[in-house]
Amino acid sequence: MMPSHLRKAERYLSRLSGFQHSSGFGAAYRLFTVSLLILLIILPACASGQAGTPRDTDAWLRYAPLDSEAATNYKRLPENLVVVGRSSILENAQRELASGIQRTLGRPLRASAAVNGSAIIVGTLHDLGSIAPSLHPPVELQADGYWITAARIRNFECLIITGADERGVLYGVFQFLSKIARGESIQGMNEAQNPYAPIRWVNQWDNLDGRIERGYGGPSVFFADGKVREDLKRASDYARLLASIGINGCTINNVNAAPGILQSSFIGQVKRIADVFRPWGVQLSMSVDLSSPKLVGGLDTFDPLDPRVATWWREKADEIYTQIPDFGGFVVKADSEGRSGPSAYGRTHADAANVIARALKPHGGVVFYRAFVYNHHLDWRNLKNDRAKAAYDNFHPLDGAFDDNAIVQIKNGPIDFQVREPVSPLFAGLRRTNEAIELQITQEYTGQQKHLCFLVPMWKGVLDFDMRVDGRSSPVKELVSGRAFHRPIGGFAGVANVGLDANWLGSPLAMANLYGFGRLAWNPDLSSEAIVDEWTRLTFGSDPLVVNTIADLQLRSWHVYENYTGPLGAGTLTNITGNHYDPGPESSEENGWGQWHRADHQGIGMDRTIATGTGFIGQYPPEVQKLYESLGSCPDNLLLFFHHVPYTHVLHSGKSLIQHVYDSHYEGADQAHEFIAQWKRLDGHMDPDRYRDILARFEFQAGEAIKWRDTICNWIYRLSRVPDQKGRLAAPELSLN
Ligand code: GCU
Repeated sequence: MMPSHLRKAERYLSRLSGFQHSSGFGAAYRLFTVSLLILLIILPACASGQAGTPRDTDAWLRYAPLDSEAATNYKRLPENLVVVGRSSILENAQRELASGIQRTLGRPLRASAAVNGSAIIVGTLHDLGSIAPSLHPPVELQADGYWITAARIRNFECLIITGADERGVLYGVFQFLSKIARGESIQGMNEAQNPYAPIRWVNQWDNLDGRIERGYGGPSVFFADGKVREDLKRASDYARLLASIGINGCTINNVNAAPGILQSSFIGQVKRIADVFRPWGVQLSMSVDLSSPKLVGGLDTFDPLDPRVATWWREKADEIYTQIPDFGGFVVKADSEGRSGPSAYGRTHADAANVIARALKPHGGVVFYRAFVYNHHLDWRNLKNDRAKAAYDNFHPLDGAFDDNAIVQIKNGPIDFQVREPVSPLFAGLRRTNEAIELQITQEYTGQQKHLCFLVPMWKGVLDFDMRVDGRSSPVKELVSGRAFHRPIGGFAGVANVGLDANWLGSPLAMANLYGFGRLAWNPDLSSEAIVDEWTRLTFGSDPLVVNTIADLQLRSWHVYENYTGPLGAGTLTNITGNHYDPGPESSEENGWGQWHRADHQGIGMDRTIATGTGFIGQYPPEVQKLYESLGSCPDNLLLFFHHVPYTHVLHSGKSLIQHVYDSHYEGADQAHEFIAQWKRLDGHMDPDRYRDILARFEFQAGEAIKWRDTICNWIYRLSRVPDQKGRLAAPELSLN
């Protein structure tokens, strides 16, 4: 039997029908009815109270009720909602708007098929033309851009949420709700925003068996036991979160791709994921193995220049697009860490990227070809060998050889998501090739969500770093977005690795990284402070003590983590052959992985200078070379990345290097300990469960910081034999000598 609110909806629609026809809105009416029905379905659910209870999975979309004082700011918000147009994205936009306002302001929105009173009007700019032809945004809206403004329509005060396209409308709705949830004024609003770059994607490193490579938030929301999950509710919730921060694409599987994902039987399953992404404007893409024509297609080759291989990719793309018409494209990891690649046939990375790009091109798809290509069997005894040089060495010579729908996806630093690296010189090394920057949201080398490490300040440093290409201002954000060299596409890819845990990343505070990635991809000019303030208010409410404390903890956390793990750009002191989490400075050396720090009895650091080292510095534009080549101008925080120096070397701070290492580790561990006391001030200022959960995490982190401090200090002390001036290290080994 039909639920009672559905029956009411039906009766309401038939009454409305008479009104609509008599007022001459017939065609428009037909468009509105379906969305109206949906709204009437959602409203009773909102009013039931259940929708008012934030769930952990809501993350920053909690829409917690505003207190009555804050709510009075929105007294004049229209009570009617008119949605112009019809699509699954618009349906989500209106459902979100209705439920967000119900939850924050405790007030229902009345669906209206026409503007016959003050109303919130939602629709694309094009569709709004029919009721408000004179609407002109203050800036031209580009794809995914939105505009929120007050306007008089048919003589009624209205609030317009519009966009260049449906995604833009949805983004406008989320932005509008975010403002209300944070208690920000919407009085006289006239806000038009365009995204900084067209590519704003997340990558998930999910395996088809449900495990996630470098994932710390539980099993995959997409896969289990070699199949796509039956229940894709969490995949849909994930897409909603992504849409709320302007992310428009998601690669669903591990870059170390299982070829099976391209089996015809599997594509039908993947379609179901695309179906739950679509209403949130999230395009689906897949990581693929370059040898798929052989492994899946049964050919005897995967040579990218073999016509049979080209045909195979073309037919595979056609097959995918029949099932998933808005498919985004493929991500390729080739000739890297044991993956097969074009080198098997003496072909280039451009050959490999282009054969796939050409298969996708007729459908509007793109291929992300990863620049994370290096030899992991490097001879560590050769002081000229340097893994940091690999991306540039492999891809710079190919500049201009990639098709227009191929994007070279470049990790932020030349090694691999370490706590501190310089920016990859390849960003400046491709002028005629599309780029995307790959940032890691999941904290593989930065505490695996067990330690607080808010990465937005690090990413800001990377994006704002000025490469001085041709002696002109060229911040990385302008290079990767395609602005600097007028490339057709470019942007941001974040390795997220959320899982089924209720809080997605396995830790509530770590969600600020996912939020921050999206916000920076939308607008890299936002400050870290603004981002953390938004996220905290949305997640924890606007109590000033909570907002200030969490902002302070988040903003300091990266430096604190760096202090007690590995300062001065020392490279990887983490256990690299095992879990990538614990201290393990010896694991970096004497193997082919190339994450060397070159610590010996005299000094530490990689000599990457042009004059005496590996020559890596020579890959940067001249002004940046100058900055790093000289010990005098090289910033202390990257000193050991670029130079091998004695332990007694005096830093710009006036301290000796070794004393700095001791001091920073002690300081970092103390700071991690202080986090506990800082957090305890919030007791009673939030729900006890979240308070206690996070307190336990800080207590754990403080202990881990001591482990890090002692392991690294003792290790470097044993090597250097230089005692700590403050006498904090017992010296058994030393006294024996
Ligand atoms: C790191 C990570 C791997 C991953 C690789 C990549 O090395 O540890 O798990 O596959 O990066 O980005 O391809």
